[in-house]
Amino acid sequence: MCGIVGYIGNKSAAPILLEGLKRLEYRGYDSAGVAILENTNPPAQAGLLGIKKSGRIAALESAVNLANPTGNLGIAHTRWATHGAPTEKNAHPHFDCSGRIAVAHNGIIENYGEIRRALEASGHFFKSETDTEVLAHLIEKYYQENLAEAVRLALRHVRGTYGLAVIAADQPNLIVAARRGSPLILGIGDDEYFLASDASAVLSHTNQVIYLSDGELLRISRQGFSAITLDNKLVDKEIETLDLDAMSIEKGVFPHYMLKEIYEQPQVVKNCLAGRLVLGEGTAHIGGLNLTDAEIRMAERVVFVACGTASYAGMVGKHFFEEIAGIPCDVCLASEFRYNRLLISPQTIVFVISQSGETADTIAALREVKQKGIKVLGVINVVGSTMSRETDGGMFIYAGPEIGVASTKAFMGQITALSLIALKFGRLRHLSVSEGKRIGQGLFKLPSKIEEVLAGAERIRQIAEKYKDFKNFLYLGRKASFPIAMEGALKLKEISYIHAEGCAAGEMKHGPIALVDENFPSVFVAPRDDVYEKTISNMEEIRARKGKVLAIATAGDEEITRHADDVVYIPQTEPCLSSFLSVVPLQLFAYFIAASKGLDIDKPRNLAKSVTVE
Ligand code: F6R
Repeated sequence: MCGIVGYIGNKSAAPILLEGLKRLEYRGYDSAGVAILENTNPPAQAGLLGIKKSGRIAALESAVNLANPTGNLGIAHTRWATHGAPTEKNAHPHFDCSGRIAVAHNGIIENYGEIRRALEASGHFFKSETDTEVLAHLIEKYYQENLAEAVRLALRHVRGTYGLAVIAADQPNLIVAARRGSPLILGIGDDEYFLASDASAVLSHTNQVIYLSDGELLRISRQGFSAITLDNKLVDKEIETLDLDAMSIEKGVFPHYMLKEIYEQPQVVKNCLAGRLVLGEGTAHIGGLNLTDAEIRMAERVVFVACGTASYAGMVGKHFFEEIAGIPCDVCLASEFRYNRLLISPQTIVFVISQSGETADTIAALREVKQKGIKVLGVINVVGSTMSRETDGGMFIYAGPEIGVASTKAFMGQITALSLIALKFGRLRHLSVSEGKRIGQGLFKLPSKIEEVLAGAERIRQIAEKYKDFKNFLYLGRKASFPIAMEGALKLKEISYIHAEGCAAGEMKHGPIALVDENFPSVFVAPRDDVYEKTISNMEEIRARKGKVLAIATAGDEEITRHADDVVYIPQTEPCLSSFLSVVPLQLFAYFIAASKGLDIDKPRNLAKSVTVE
């Protein structure tokens, strides 16, 4: 949510900043800006060139190209508006009264109102409605000669979260960065440094990085960097090597990242299973889980904490844990959980689930549980993310960078990881070796079955064409197909802006059925499982009210054609694994509807990847 880029070196900063912004555009894309320190002779007269535009990076790029800046130090920002509309004047970087200091900020300054009033009373003049601008003026207040010290002193007055990049006109060899709650990474080149909100913006320049931790401040010059805490203590930072391939952040032959990521799902499942699924023993070996066999056997309850799509993955995981491992499991929305009374015993195993590892609510929930002395494990995609650093163990899903704002392959990776953990738990508790082997075989065969679903994409496109003009949809399913219905509805609303409601099929008659008529179709997730007949009855209830029915059903199910207007088949699998297959047609259905409307699928309106604010 919002992206920061910074460059200091000997090359022209503008193209590097713009390229970095494009890489980070998925984090926020309603306005963008750069501040570049122009080279002048003598350097003491150097000035900061600020260029900002509302709208996409392309608008900023044209303006920057026109101005043709040559400076080799600068910061840039792509915004997801929190305080103040997405206008040019609210775009970052923000400047102090004199225009000598520029600040790009991710996060929220919670006490900005009181700081602003005090600064205005002492003569500071504000130009925007943002919370960020108070930082520029606060730093101005403390700035004499030492910019890092001024930033440090300013941050002592601030409540809230920040990832921050600061430059000053009279500091031609310095970027100051600071972090609290919003990620920052420093890419290390030869006499040049690349600051960014995430690795995708530095990957084309270097794979040597350091990750800033909360409460740290970084001074970056062409000759090197040093880190201190906000209490002014030196910190040793470890240089790490990014394990990412530059191709993984390219769209390749696909028109959208979302479609590419949908097609990567067979490989995502393979990567996640590799070296973990032990077919011969019907179990999983998960290095890094950090749970002893005794802890697993003693566990009384499992709790998943997550947001959005990751919470639906948790709901699918709940079925794995209850059916495969025989352990009661709850799924909690992080935004609620963090403010509730935590009724967690030491025999409860808590997992956070997150693609980005940076979601503010999930991080806050994680910290809340840890603060009570209870271990928190993670099912996380981004290696090096805040959650991956703060959890006590867990599993990476290894899905690779997910750039489309609507999550697809991360969901697939999350449910794969959860199925493996459930299998391991099950085998240490009640699950027999033969049951474990059967489920293991089922998991092993999933990638080729997902390929089969993907091979039917053209038929799903044709069905999407038929349904694209409806304004409302119900998505229905039972048991593990209920979260798949929720996820299918979320995908449709996110990228096509069509109203879609996910609902437990059995719950529909307790209210939502009032909505149904010939203009309100229902999408049923109806694999052949032990609630199949109940789901068919719900279809009939919809059809009795003239509602159209699109069903996702198991291959070979002829019966369902008598109850649905359209059917998309998924291959047969273990009943407890059908979610892996049924989610794929729903992703494609949403994708094709949005594509037929010509919408901006990878960057839907009002959304941003990685929600780093509350
Ligand atoms: C939906 C979507 C979001 C995220 C949610 C959690 O397509 O992407 O609902 O799933 O914001 O994000 P992570 O998994 O990064 O914690």
